[in-house]
Amino acid sequence: MARLIRLREHVNPLSIQFRTPTPPPDWHSIYRDWQLPLSLDLGSGQGEYLLGMAQQYPDRNFLGLEIRQPLVEYGNSIRSALGLNNVYFLFCNINQTLPGLLPQGKVSEATIQFPDPWFKRRQQKRRLVNAELVNTLAQLLVPQGKVLVQSDVLDTAKSILKQFDAHPQFHNTAGVGAFTDRYPEHIPTERELWAMRKERPVYRMVFVRV
Ligand SMILES: C[S@@+](CC[C@H](N)C(=O)[O-])C[C@H]1O[C@@H](n2cnc3c(N)ncnc32)[C@H](O)[C@@H]1O
Repeated sequence: MARLIRLREHVNPLSIQFRTPTPPPDWHSIYRDWQLPLSLDLGSGQGEYLLGMAQQYPDRNFLGLEIRQPLVEYGNSIRSALGLNNVYFLFCNINQTLPGLLPQGKVSEATIQFPDPWFKRRQQKRRLVNAELVNTLAQLLVPQGKVLVQSDVLDTAKSILKQFDAHPQFHNTAGVGAFTDRYPEHIPTERELWAMRKERPVYRMVFVRV
Protein backbone atom coordinates (compact mmCIF):
# COMPACT_ATOMS: atom_id res chain seq x y z
CA MET A 1 0.00 0.00 0.00
CA ALA A 2 2.80 2.41 0.92
CA ARG A 3 3.43 5.08 -1.69
CA LEU A 4 5.59 8.07 -0.98
CA ILE A 5 3.92 11.41 -1.55
CA ARG A 6 6.49 14.11 -2.25
CA LEU A 7 5.57 17.40 -0.62
CA ARG A 8 7.21 20.42 0.88
CA GLU A 9 8.59 19.23 4.22
CA HIS A 10 6.55 21.51 6.54
CA VAL A 11 3.72 23.96 6.39
CA ASN A 12 3.48 26.83 8.84
CA PRO A 13 0.36 26.24 11.00
CA LEU A 14 0.36 29.90 12.03
CA SER A 15 -0.09 31.22 8.50
CA ILE A 16 -3.38 32.95 7.77
CA GLN A 17 -4.88 30.19 5.61
CA PHE A 18 -4.79 27.75 8.55
CA ARG A 19 -6.42 29.99 11.15
CA THR A 20 -10.03 28.99 10.50
CA PRO A 21 -11.22 25.87 12.34
CA THR A 22 -12.53 23.06 10.11
CA PRO A 23 -16.20 22.44 11.00
CA PRO A 24 -17.03 18.94 12.29
CA PRO A 25 -18.38 16.73 9.48
CA ASP A 26 -21.43 14.49 9.92
CA TRP A 27 -19.70 11.69 11.80
CA HIS A 28 -22.66 9.32 11.40
CA SER A 29 -22.39 9.45 7.61
CA ILE A 30 -18.64 8.76 7.74
CA TYR A 31 -18.44 5.93 10.26
CA ARG A 32 -20.47 2.75 10.12
CA ASP A 33 -20.89 2.85 13.91
CA TRP A 34 -20.01 6.15 15.60
CA GLN A 35 -20.43 4.53 19.04
CA LEU A 36 -17.24 2.45 18.67
CA PRO A 37 -14.18 3.58 20.67
CA LEU A 38 -12.42 6.40 18.82
CA SER A 39 -8.65 6.76 18.36
CA LEU A 40 -7.26 10.09 17.19
CA ASP A 41 -3.96 10.45 15.34
CA LEU A 42 -2.66 14.03 15.50
CA GLY A 43 -0.59 14.84 12.41
CA SER A 44 -1.44 11.64 10.58
CA GLY A 45 0.89 12.25 7.60
CA GLN A 46 0.27 9.80 4.77
CA GLY A 47 -1.99 7.77 7.03
CA GLU A 48 -0.30 4.39 6.76
CA TYR A 49 -0.50 3.93 10.54
CA LEU A 50 -4.25 4.54 10.77
CA LEU A 51 -5.08 2.62 7.60
CA GLY A 52 -3.22 -0.36 9.02
CA MET A 53 -4.82 -0.01 12.46
CA ALA A 54 -8.30 0.30 10.95
CA GLN A 55 -7.86 -3.01 9.13
CA GLN A 56 -6.38 -4.70 12.19
CA TYR A 57 -9.09 -3.43 14.59
CA PRO A 58 -12.47 -3.34 12.80
CA ASP A 59 -14.24 -2.82 16.14
CA ARG A 60 -12.58 0.58 16.69
CA ASN A 61 -12.89 3.91 14.87
CA PHE A 62 -9.86 5.96 13.78
CA LEU A 63 -9.61 9.63 12.90
CA GLY A 64 -6.51 11.24 11.42
CA LEU A 65 -6.05 15.01 11.61
CA GLU A 66 -3.62 16.52 9.13
CA ILE A 67 -2.79 20.00 7.84
CA ARG A 68 -1.43 18.92 4.43
CA GLN A 69 -4.45 18.45 2.20
CA PRO A 70 -2.87 16.12 -0.41
CA LEU A 71 -2.03 13.67 2.39
CA VAL A 72 -5.61 13.79 3.64
CA GLU A 73 -6.90 13.14 0.12
CA TYR A 74 -4.46 10.28 -0.31
CA GLY A 75 -5.54 8.66 2.99
CA ASN A 76 -9.22 8.99 2.15
CA SER A 77 -8.67 7.58 -1.36
CA ILE A 78 -7.09 4.46 0.15
CA ARG A 79 -9.92 4.30 2.70
CA SER A 80 -12.42 4.22 -0.19
CA ALA A 81 -10.40 1.77 -2.25
CA LEU A 82 -10.26 -0.63 0.72
CA GLY A 83 -13.91 -0.04 1.63
CA LEU A 84 -13.04 0.94 5.22
CA ASN A 85 -15.79 2.63 7.19
CA ASN A 86 -13.99 2.86 10.53
CA VAL A 87 -11.29 5.35 9.50
CA TYR A 88 -11.30 8.91 8.14
CA PHE A 89 -8.81 11.72 7.54
CA LEU A 90 -9.77 15.34 8.17
CA PHE A 91 -7.93 18.32 6.71
CA CYS A 92 -7.45 20.81 9.54
CA ASN A 93 -5.09 22.76 11.71
CA ILE A 94 -5.33 20.70 14.89
CA ASN A 95 -4.62 23.63 17.19
CA GLN A 96 -7.54 25.59 15.73
CA THR A 97 -9.95 22.72 15.12
CA LEU A 98 -9.61 20.15 17.89
CA PRO A 99 -11.26 22.17 20.70
CA GLY A 100 -14.63 22.24 18.83
CA LEU A 101 -14.40 19.02 16.87
CA LEU A 102 -15.73 16.29 19.16
CA PRO A 103 -17.87 15.93 22.27
CA GLN A 104 -16.07 15.78 25.61
CA GLY A 105 -15.14 12.25 26.67
CA LYS A 106 -15.45 10.89 23.12
CA VAL A 107 -11.84 9.79 22.58
CA SER A 108 -10.38 6.51 23.89
CA GLU A 109 -6.83 7.01 22.69
CA ALA A 110 -4.79 9.77 21.04
CA THR A 111 -1.46 9.35 19.28
CA ILE A 112 1.08 12.08 18.61
CA GLN A 113 3.77 10.51 16.48
CA PHE A 114 6.88 12.30 15.35
CA PRO A 115 5.44 15.84 15.42
CA ASP A 116 7.34 18.46 13.40
CA PRO A 117 10.20 19.58 15.65
CA TRP A 118 10.50 23.30 14.69
CA PHE A 119 14.06 23.52 16.03
CA LYS A 120 14.63 27.26 15.73
CA ARG A 121 13.67 29.20 18.82
CA ARG A 122 11.62 31.74 16.82
CA GLN A 123 9.64 28.87 15.24
CA GLN A 124 8.83 27.03 18.46
CA LYS A 125 5.40 28.63 18.73
CA ARG A 126 4.46 26.56 15.65
CA ARG A 127 4.82 23.33 17.64
CA LEU A 128 1.73 21.18 17.77
CA VAL A 129 1.93 20.29 21.46
CA ASN A 130 1.34 23.23 23.77
CA ALA A 131 -0.52 23.70 27.05
CA GLU A 132 -3.83 24.35 25.24
CA LEU A 133 -3.58 21.14 23.24
CA VAL A 134 -2.81 19.09 26.37
CA ASN A 135 -5.81 20.65 28.06
CA THR A 136 -8.06 19.93 25.08
CA LEU A 137 -6.96 16.29 25.10
CA ALA A 138 -7.72 16.05 28.83
CA GLN A 139 -11.30 17.11 28.03
CA LEU A 140 -11.74 14.83 25.02
CA LEU A 141 -10.38 11.63 26.53
CA VAL A 142 -12.44 9.13 28.46
CA PRO A 143 -11.22 8.42 32.01
CA GLN A 144 -8.28 5.97 31.68
CA GLY A 145 -7.94 7.00 28.02
CA LYS A 146 -4.36 7.09 26.77
CA VAL A 147 -2.09 9.48 24.92
CA LEU A 148 0.77 7.72 23.13
CA VAL A 149 3.67 9.87 21.98
CA GLN A 150 6.76 9.13 19.90
CA SER A 151 9.54 11.39 18.68
CA ASP A 152 13.07 10.89 17.41
CA VAL A 153 14.03 14.45 18.43
CA LEU A 154 15.08 14.65 22.07
CA ASP A 155 14.32 18.35 22.49
CA THR A 156 10.78 17.89 21.12
CA ALA A 157 10.21 14.78 23.21
CA LYS A 158 11.37 16.56 26.39
CA SER A 159 9.12 19.54 25.69
CA ILE A 160 6.09 17.24 25.24
CA LEU A 161 6.98 15.26 28.37
CA LYS A 162 7.14 18.43 30.43
CA GLN A 163 3.76 19.65 29.24
CA PHE A 164 1.87 16.41 29.94
CA ASP A 165 3.67 15.94 33.27
CA ALA A 166 2.55 19.44 34.28
CA HIS A 167 -1.13 18.67 33.68
CA PRO A 168 -2.98 17.39 36.76
CA GLN A 169 -5.23 15.09 34.71
CA PHE A 170 -2.42 13.14 33.08
CA HIS A 171 -0.42 10.39 34.69
CA ASN A 172 2.91 9.47 33.12
CA THR A 173 3.01 5.65 33.24
CA ALA A 174 6.83 5.68 33.33
CA GLY A 175 6.99 8.18 36.21
CA VAL A 176 7.31 11.96 36.04
CA GLY A 177 10.14 13.08 33.76
CA ALA A 178 10.69 9.62 32.25
CA PHE A 179 10.27 8.10 28.81
CA THR A 180 8.71 4.65 28.61
CA ASP A 181 10.17 1.37 27.44
CA ARG A 182 6.67 -0.19 27.52
CA TYR A 183 5.09 1.35 24.47
CA PRO A 184 2.27 -0.80 23.03
CA GLU A 185 2.71 -3.01 19.96
CA HIS A 186 1.66 -0.97 16.96
CA ILE A 187 1.94 -0.47 13.23
CA PRO A 188 4.97 1.72 12.54
CA THR A 189 4.39 5.18 11.07
CA GLU A 190 6.20 6.49 7.98
CA ARG A 191 8.54 8.58 10.10
CA GLU A 192 9.11 5.72 12.51
CA LEU A 193 10.23 3.45 9.66
CA TRP A 194 12.60 6.20 8.51
CA ALA A 195 14.00 6.60 12.06
CA MET A 196 14.49 2.83 12.30
CA ARG A 197 16.36 2.77 8.97
CA LYS A 198 18.61 5.62 10.16
CA GLU A 199 19.03 3.88 13.55
CA ARG A 200 17.87 6.99 15.35
CA PRO A 201 16.75 6.66 18.97
CA VAL A 202 13.00 7.01 19.48
CA TYR A 203 11.66 8.58 22.70
CA ARG A 204 8.25 7.25 23.71
CA MET A 205 5.68 8.26 26.30
CA VAL A 206 2.36 6.88 27.55
CA PHE A 207 0.06 9.17 29.55
CA VAL A 208 -3.21 8.07 31.12
CA ARG A 209 -6.11 10.47 31.66
CA VAL A 210 -6.92 10.23 35.36
C1 LIG B 1 6.86 14.63 10.80
S1 LIG B 1 5.26 14.34 10.23
C2 LIG B 1 4.86 12.79 11.00
C3 LIG B 1 3.73 12.10 10.31
C4 LIG B 1 3.31 10.76 10.94
N1 LIG B 1 2.70 10.97 12.25
C5 LIG B 1 4.47 9.84 11.06
O1 LIG B 1 4.87 9.53 12.19
O2 LIG B 1 4.99 9.41 10.02
C6 LIG B 1 4.23 15.46 11.19
C7 LIG B 1 2.86 15.66 10.57
O3 LIG B 1 2.07 16.52 11.37
C8 LIG B 1 1.37 17.42 10.51
N2 LIG B 1 1.06 18.64 11.30
C9 LIG B 1 1.95 19.47 11.86
N3 LIG B 1 1.33 20.49 12.50
C10 LIG B 1 -0.01 20.27 12.32
C11 LIG B 1 -1.18 20.96 12.74
N4 LIG B 1 -1.10 22.09 13.47
N5 LIG B 1 -2.37 20.47 12.39
C12 LIG B 1 -2.45 19.32 11.64
N6 LIG B 1 -1.39 18.62 11.23
C13 LIG B 1 -0.18 19.08 11.57
C14 LIG B 1 2.35 17.66 9.39
O4 LIG B 1 1.76 18.18 8.21
C15 LIG B 1 2.95 16.28 9.19
O5 LIG B 1 2.25 15.50 8.27
